[in-house]
Amino acid sequence: MGAPSTVLLTGASTGIGLAVARRLLDTTEHRLILTARESSLERFGAAGIAEGPRVRLRALDVTHPDERVEVVREAERDWGGVDVLINNAGVSYRAVVEHVRDRERLAQMQVNFLAPMELIRLVLPSMRAKRGGRILSVSSVGGMMAMPTMAIYSASKFALEGAHEALWYEVRPWGIHVSLIEPGFINSEGFRHVRYTPSSESAERTSDDAYHAHYRFMGAFVMRLMDRTHSTPESVAKVIVRTMHKKHPSLRVPATFDAWLFVMLRRLLPRWVYHRVLYAGLPGIRRWGPERAGPMPALPPSSVPPEPPRGPAPDAPDAPEAFTEPPGAPEAPWRSDDDRPGRRPTRADEPGAP
Ligand SMILES: NC(=O)c1ccc[n+]([C@@H]2O[C@H](COP(=O)([O-])OP(=O)(O)OC[C@H]3O[C@@H](n4cnc5c(N)ncnc54)[C@H](OP(=O)(O)O)[C@@H]3O)[C@@H](O)[C@H]2O)c1
Repeated sequence: MGAPSTVLLTGASTGIGLAVARRLLDTTEHRLILTARESSLERFGAAGIAEGPRVRLRALDVTHPDERVEVVREAERDWGGVDVLINNAGVSYRAVVEHVRDRERLAQMQVNFLAPMELIRLVLPSMRAKRGGRILSVSSVGGMMAMPTMAIYSASKFALEGAHEALWYEVRPWGIHVSLIEPGFINSEGFRHVRYTPSSESAERTSDDAYHAHYRFMGAFVMRLMDRTHSTPESVAKVIVRTMHKKHPSLRVPATFDAWLFVMLRRLLPRWVYHRVLYAGLPGIRRWGPERAGPMPALPPSSVPPEPPRGPAPDAPDAPEAFTEPPGAPEAPWRSDDDRPGRRPTRADEPGAP
């Protein structure tokens, strides 16, 4: 990819997106459409990024169909269409499966899966006409392995991965390259933006909640890893820009050291061993469940107090319908001894076991 191209980047005002924007500005000649939700546009000024002959700053809430169409039309009208689409915008919910309702499930899927797929649909006709183009979507280690309390985040990234794998085959005849960037833990603010559902927020704070230990131990564990890792938004941005310029980019690109490690683990271990090893290694696993009393790790700063939800505005054109928890929704009792928290798993528990 030698000649300057038109790059459309989502979620460009913070974290990995901002690092990619800076790197593209500093090291390339590409024409850039840097997008952020309207309320976040002012961050570009604070970051020292302004409009110029090759830079446009545009409002794009990826869940808004009109805004998606508008930025892609503008690129076609003025700059001959989008040559490189970087789907970076993302959100993540922390909640066990039992604490998620359709509202949050939809909000998660809309930002991380449905919106990137719509943007891809919009840029493909011009890429096909030009017989070339690049689509890079930021997935996650969570897109290759699922962790407790991150079920819907993983579901959204697994969906993204599946769709991109199909897309890779579909658009190869036109010379369009498709890549999934898979970061693991990053030392960044991203973790502080994690969202809670009403039930998960309450469970994390309520010591006798059945899932209290799940949240406390997992939160502290993730926080620790993020503090210790050497990976940063800048190091991930470097991987993204390098992948974007590769002649033959891979479909899946692990973007941090731990991501490489997980790829190797998945490749080397039989599935049932992998799941057992992971289960045994979960932080504080012997204390998960209501009857396992004892001191808990402190609440991670990310949840004190939790950020207000940053999801689609309630009046967004395709926002999920308003949702209210039924009053006094019962806590599901442990249904059988097999459900007892802390019970050591057997091979029959492994996903896919008969
Ligand atoms: N941080 C990590 O450890 C990590 C690990 C693996 C993968 N990832 C992935 O990396 C990507 C970037 O995350 P990050 O770490 O840079 O997190 P971040 O700092 O929270 O950035 C996320 C960006 O997405 C934007 N965004 C959220 N909802 C949006 C919407 N509806 N429309 C447009 N933009 C929206 C945010 O904008 P607002 O500020 O306006 O909400 C923000 O700019 C995500 O896809 C994430 O899943 C991150």
